[in-house]
Amino acid sequence: MLQYVNVSINGAIIRAVKGNSILDTAIEYGICIPHLCHSRNLSDIGACRLCVVEHIVNGRSNITTSCTLKAEEGMVIRADTERVKKLRRNIAELLVAQAPNSRAIQDMAVRCGVKEVRYPFRNDDCVLCGRCVRACNELWKVHARGFVGRGKERHVDFPFGKRPDFCIQCGACIQLCPMTIVPCDGPMKSGEERLCGKCEAQLMISEDMPGNCTWCKLGESIACGRYV
Ligand code: SF4
Ligand code: SF4
Ligand code: FES
Repeated sequence: MLQYVNVSINGAIIRAVKGNSILDTAIEYGICIPHLCHSRNLSDIGACRLCVVEHIVNGRSNITTSCTLKAEEGMVIRADTERVKKLRRNIAELLVAQAPNSRAIQDMAVRCGVKEVRYPFRNDDCVLCGRCVRACNELWKVHARGFVGRGKERHVDFPFGKRPDFCIQCGACIQLCPMTIVPCDGPMKSGEERLCGKCEAQLMISEDMPGNCTWCKLGESIACGRYV
């Protein structure tokens, strides 16, 4: 049987299912906490760190990822402080530098208030969010993909670099990957990468109407869960 607890998020007292993540709880109540590696039907691994919040315990504030933080009675969470926003903005900026050709990441960066990218562009093919690995392992129990290597060498691959015969070609790994949707104007040329910012208009309209979600299209398959 579900147990409920009272949690304060951004000053609002919310009735949350005990043990559900703070991120899922916030999404359920229409509070937007930007996130990338989280996906509704997958376990959370805290990879992207975009969903950071302040968890206040006995007057002391701890920065933590809301997708891995479980709701408990009396919790006090702030997802809207300047400290959190600055941290989140920096994480989003680093992600754009890493993957400027991802529409999902461009959308997310605008959502986080990024105005410019101060880091060198890398144009990586993958941001190591682990969505594909978890989709393969948890949705289909196929285990055809996994993380390989450590540190800078870490990447996602098939065993021995080759798609195995037991891959059922379900496509979940591609659908859930934030790299699969390119910016509206198409891929950016090397040396001309930038923050696209096209989605800013949508964001401005929404923020004129408090409480309205921008319905940011985090890649066609990466809706936050509020609208699907
Ligand atoms: S297409 Fe293959 S590798 Fe991708 S999720 Fe499905 S089974 Fe796994
Ligand atoms: S391939 Fe895509 S889904 Fe998989 S870890 Fe990299 S960015 Fe994430
Ligand atoms: S969504 Fe929480 S760390 Fe990525």
